[in-house]
Amino acid sequence: MTDALTLHAFNHEWRIEAECPGDLRDRELLLDRVMGSGRFLKSSENLRRGRNPSDFLALVARTDRGDIVGTVRLWDIHAGSVDALLLGPLAVAPEWSGMGLGSGLMDEAISRATNLGHGAIILVGDPGYYARFGFAPHATARLDMPGHFERHRLLGLELVRGWLDGASGLITPRSPETAVLMAA
Ligand SMILES: CC(C)(COP(=O)(O)OP(=O)(O)OC[C@H]1O[C@@H](n2cnc3c(N)ncnc32)[C@H](O)[C@@H]1OP(=O)(O)O)[C@@H](O)C(=O)NCCC(=O)NCCS
Repeated sequence: MTDALTLHAFNHEWRIEAECPGDLRDRELLLDRVMGSGRFLKSSENLRRGRNPSDFLALVARTDRGDIVGTVRLWDIHAGSVDALLLGPLAVAPEWSGMGLGSGLMDEAISRATNLGHGAIILVGDPGYYARFGFAPHATARLDMPGHFERHRLLGLELVRGWLDGASGLITPRSPETAVLMAA
């Protein structure tokens, strides 16, 4: 597994790499700016609150000055009877949108999850964006989120073929609640 993926566009350079201890504040500020406080009301938040992301699967996009301009995290979940990952939130600073940072974060997250031996990734998001990475609604048709969600936005990507064949029921967290949160 590489330590960082370097992206170039329009004479700029970014690194996609693991989130560091100390990144918490800047990441929260980015999420507040991109998504607002409504992000805490999402059903996915019920699977994340008070827990740490899956090991090695919290990534940031950083400028060459070290500023965080993108973030994605993956979380350990039970998808009914099978183990899987939940992806989100994914966010890129608006001033850097359309330059491939979202795709870079997604590609690196999928690559790392595959190399770590995970079987599938699930997320709630816009099908028009996530289809390009292979996410589709059919694999999650018999799964439910803990809280309100729009069925057509519950998407899955199998990293191991057939992994979600038997996945049905409620999606629940797989990691324990912790008093010590990552990067706090
Ligand atoms: C969605 C987001 C992460 C994309 O980041 P980005 O760095 O601009 O993405 P990329 O540069 O890799 O890709 C840009 C492409 O995605 C498309 N795109 C962006 N958001 C989209 C959406 N919601 N639905 C469909 N397509 C979308 C753009 O139109 C562009 O298309 P093109 O390649 O045909 O020109 C970013 O816009 C963002 O943070 N949005 C707000 C938070 C959010 O919506 N997060 C995702 C939850 S669903």
